[in-house]
Amino acid sequence: MKKTLVTLLLATATASACGKTDAGGQGATAAPAANTAATAPAAAPAVANADTSLPGDPVKGEDVYKRVCLACHGADGKGNGGMTGANFIGDKTRLAKDNAILIKSVTEGVMNVPPGKPVMPPQGAALSAEEIKDAIAYVRKTFGG
Ligand code: HEC
Repeated sequence: MKKTLVTLLLATATASACGKTDAGGQGATAAPAANTAATAPAAAPAVANADTSLPGDPVKGEDVYKRVCLACHGADGKGNGGMTGANFIGDKTRLAKDNAILIKSVTEGVMNVPPGKPVMPPQGAALSAEEIKDAIAYVRKTFGG
């Protein structure tokens, strides 16, 4: 197997202002920009590997959502403009989070929020783990698009 040696010339285009007095003529050795082999755009950080699949049954989750979550998050998932619950429509970062994070948030609540912001009380006492997963599945399916 032959190896192809690719010589990568890094054009260190040091734009050093070397004695530019009034040298009208540009001695520019305009190297053709062979600099296209840039590194592939890095995957979006933070949520790159987030598991955003449906963690449960969205059909069962609809019932749970309407019974428990709707009061704060609203029928439209906007949380009354974020005044009473997370706005899933307006804040796409919410549902970009990994299932494990959302399950934890709903189960244990989100109490540590800046002053003036609404908190989410823990739902883990009133609901089973299954119901919480189903409700999150409903939220993802309904408001995640
Ligand atoms: C008493 C009001 C209330 C109820 C009931 C409630 N939530 Fe929330 N929820 C909130 C608030 C407020 C936040 C935003 C907290 C914050 O600032 O991070 C939130 C955040 C969330 C988040 C985002 C969590 C995160 O980590 O960003 C999810 C998902 C969620 N709620 C789902 C649910 C589901 C599913 C239910 C029903 C089982 C539910 N919530 C019930 C008020 C509520």
